[in-house]
Amino acid sequence: MPVYFKKEDVENKIKVSILSKNNIGLVPTMGSLHEGHLSLIENAVKNNDNVWVSIFVNPTQFSSSENLNKYPKDLEKDVVLIKTISENINIFCPSETEIYGGIPKLKKYDFDNIDIELEGRFRVNHFNGVATIVSKLLELFKPSSIYFGEKDYQQTQIIKRLISLEKINVKMIICPTIREKNGLAMSSRNNLLSNFDKKNSSIIYNSLNILKNNFKNSDLAKIKKEIIYNINKNPNFKVEYFEIANAKTLQIDSVINPEKSYRAFICVLVNEVRLIDNILLN
Ligand code: PAF
Repeated sequence: MPVYFKKEDVENKIKVSILSKNNIGLVPTMGSLHEGHLSLIENAVKNNDNVWVSIFVNPTQFSSSENLNKYPKDLEKDVVLIKTISENINIFCPSETEIYGGIPKLKKYDFDNIDIELEGRFRVNHFNGVATIVSKLLELFKPSSIYFGEKDYQQTQIIKRLISLEKINVKMIICPTIREKNGLAMSSRNNLLSNFDKKNSSIIYNSLNILKNNFKNSDLAKIKKEIIYNINKNPNFKVEYFEIANAKTLQIDSVINPEKSYRAFICVLVNEVRLIDNILLN
């Protein structure tokens, strides 16, 4: 079996799967796989007849100021890791031309403003870029289920809306965040951290937990401020945002309504490496 397939091979294999009434599970990734991705793939293998993992560092979700070329890549290792789960997993690792034809272009969607909150405030058009590639992958693979990690919660909400906007018949499965022993959420970007910064990054998940434990406290704003101050005390760390937002709309409500569900979202630049995490508060 080839290690990875060309787009025409994918189209042919998908036709065969559909004719044979096989369930297709798709795990879209940008490679540099870690245990978080592996848990998505394992979940897909358990619940589908055919599993595809796509590996594509999508240019349209990076803004010009973010260094696309700095994104970690290790295709050979990724293939080995995938094959440790099952030899039968199919890998699609397309070129930019296979995906975008000519110059990569993003499509703009109306996401009811959830794309401009939180990450969207700092990464203009990031979620339009994510939606553009996911839409193309959904069209190509026609999966029964598509898998994402809860670490990128805002991304999961965008995809949910994309599926509804484009009326796509697919089940989105959100799998729990997998963490390092010190609580740091697994991310391909962790590979860019020094051991020292990685160790100190435990403060990110600890901070989310402190906020969760104090969610009923009337002086939440003060607690938030203290947490930000504590993180920023580390000269390599800079909090980009630390917000409590409505879990559905991702809007930052000024008054907490106990009937609604909230999450805390954080982004810390650790020596320029963007680390994000989030937690359910109630
Ligand atoms: O979460 C990611 O790795 C990417 O945003 C995704 C969903 C693979 C789209 O490029």
